[in-house]
Amino acid sequence: MKIVAYGIRDDERPFLDQWSKENPDVEVVGKSELLDDQTVADAKGADGIVVYQQKPYTASVINKLGEYGIKFMSLRNVGIDNIDWPAIKANDIQVTNVPAYSPEAIGEYTVTTLMMLLRHARQFIRKESQGNFKWAPDIADELNQMTVGVYATGKIGRAAINIYRGFGAKVIAYDIYRNPELDAEGIYVDTPEELYAQSDVISLHAPATAENEHMLNDQAFANMKDGVWILNPARGTLIDTDALIRALDSGKVAGAGLDVYEDEVGIFNSDFGSFDAIPDERLKDLMKRENVIVTPHIAFYTKRAVKNMVYYAMDANKDLFETGKSDKLVQVD
Ligand code: COI
Repeated sequence: MKIVAYGIRDDERPFLDQWSKENPDVEVVGKSELLDDQTVADAKGADGIVVYQQKPYTASVINKLGEYGIKFMSLRNVGIDNIDWPAIKANDIQVTNVPAYSPEAIGEYTVTTLMMLLRHARQFIRKESQGNFKWAPDIADELNQMTVGVYATGKIGRAAINIYRGFGAKVIAYDIYRNPELDAEGIYVDTPEELYAQSDVISLHAPATAENEHMLNDQAFANMKDGVWILNPARGTLIDTDALIRALDSGKVAGAGLDVYEDEVGIFNSDFGSFDAIPDERLKDLMKRENVIVTPHIAFYTKRAVKNMVYYAMDANKDLFETGKSDKLVQVD
């Protein structure tokens, strides 16, 4: 079997090399370039491809894969929102993802960001850099006194819930699909509006879908408590950024931890050399605020997660080739 792996970063390569050594029957080509119209021809002759990227997998690229007879495409990540699914179906390509490379990594990072916000970390670090070690006015609220509203209770949402509970917070949740164990504990509210109305912190853990685009909009923010904290380690499209900026300006939202941003493609995991050179004024507006923490989609970025992303995706691609089956197959209606 031959697998072409696209977009292999330096931090992934040792894991790919190790996987390759452990699977000498598979010819592995690890390319640093992402999969797009310019690079798709490199997949010619492969049985399967392994990919990771946030920019779209377009119909034109997928049709080329179809022409080359490639039937297996394994994502090294969980999100499937950047794929042209009609093209995947038309070309009869089977797609796998990695649904659980480390839900804990994302849970831990989300709560870390919240704690930095609640304890005014940015403000204290800035004051110290100006020689000011005074406490006031940055007195904090405590997470153990708060209600956290977790939106979506898949693997990542559940990892976050465990950590919030470890801090002593009360946790409530909303999901269209209820987890039976959490349901038995009575954690769920019936509507997003109830979640918004009762929570001091809203923690988003939903995949991006057409239905939930801009679910946090002016109306949703209006339904929330004054001084609510917003955390988004999931997908940028869940938040209407303009509405968030209005809610930050009015003080409705006390602060936000944003590990994703709706226009992040082409910006996150790039180096522009200076703050001024960042090509997005709205993002810069958010970044300048001390009650906002913007990070470049790094909640997942741990050694364990990166290793699992490479290994599980490579294994899934090989499984599909050898057995026609994989427990990581993505089914889209
Ligand atoms: C995912 O696994 O879908 C992620 O959001 C992480 C990755 C795209 C950086």
